[in-house]
Amino acid sequence: MGGALFLAATMDLKIAVLPGDYIGPEVMAASLPVLEAALKRAGHTLSYSTHDVGGAGIDNHGKALPDSTLAACRAADAILFGSVGGPKWEKLPPAEQPERGSLLPLRKAFTLFANVRPGFMPAALSASSPLKAERIPNGIDMVCIRELTGGLYFGRPKSTTTLADGDIEAIDTMVYRKSEIERITDVAIATARARSKRILSVDKANVLECSVLWRKVVTERVKALAPDIEVTHMYVDNAAMQLTLNPAKIDVMLTENMFGDILSDEMAAVCGSLGMMSSASLGDVKNRYGKPFGLYEPAGGSAPDIAGQDKANPCAQILSAALMLRHSFGLNAEADAIEAAVRKTIADGIRTGDIAFGGPSVGTKAMGAAILARL
Ligand code: IPM
Ligand code: MG
Repeated sequence: MGGALFLAATMDLKIAVLPGDYIGPEVMAASLPVLEAALKRAGHTLSYSTHDVGGAGIDNHGKALPDSTLAACRAADAILFGSVGGPKWEKLPPAEQPERGSLLPLRKAFTLFANVRPGFMPAALSASSPLKAERIPNGIDMVCIRELTGGLYFGRPKSTTTLADGDIEAIDTMVYRKSEIERITDVAIATARARSKRILSVDKANVLECSVLWRKVVTERVKALAPDIEVTHMYVDNAAMQLTLNPAKIDVMLTENMFGDILSDEMAAVCGSLGMMSSASLGDVKNRYGKPFGLYEPAGGSAPDIAGQDKANPCAQILSAALMLRHSFGLNAEADAIEAAVRKTIADGIRTGDIAFGGPSVGTKAMGAAILARL
């Protein structure tokens, strides 16, 4: 692979930029200068090309993930994704809608099996959380590791059939292989190693076969590969409660696909503003640097209500770019620098409306510029 050799040299990061719809292009525009500046300081360069996805893909090419966009992603080291969807495309069949029609095929095409979602809320922003301040005196700092290409989302059979008696039956299949559980557990182990060495594994082993296997494989994998890491198992219903009762106790939360979809949104809600939530989806495909090819996106959605008004918080997009530097390029110092610049900007009281709590606020562009200035 020669990854280590490559890393020592100057890098030219080749990324596919997919801004998407509504606020997507606005927050993307604010993030690219920050990304370029962080790279330039370290002597690296960024080569990117921009492509339609989501509603823009449907409008300009007839589908949410145009062939030309997918081809550009294949030629890149990583994807920086904005946000997609909106009222304009809500009447389309679910599978053709911007979000589902772009994200699911991208996850499948690149086997992006690991979804890393940091749930981060600095103490300075604790007023943005719906939780009482005394529950989160030090803010929230956790990570959800969600399995992303298995379970109910992709399991077969998947069908809707009209039965002989006229009734209609829909089927989704939850299926997991040991190997799929092992590889996502490995991501959780690596994440926990760099943090507090604790994993909370979520399942429904009191009901589901998949969860019985999940619990067994996670336990055995950690015992075999990472005896220094402590695993706790929790049923998903209880985990949903603990996330609101005691989020500060959770560090790395490991889940299967559907549970992670739900719990990561709950985590985002508990953390306050969606405008701060970044994410990485990583697979087993390696890029030119021998690092995981990945898709990096804010978790917040395309926010049609504030689009085009220079109001959206660009932090999630900028933090997603930092995750990209860390995971797909091994540029940890540059990722740290971006994260520190975001924190400093917030600490300095420069905020977009969603995190200003009625105090003075700035627009998307000014927020991006303030972060850039602190880099
Ligand atoms: C997410 C989204 C997607 C998912 C949808 C848009 C298919 O909710 O990334 O969490 O369910 O995975
Ligand atoms: Mg979701």
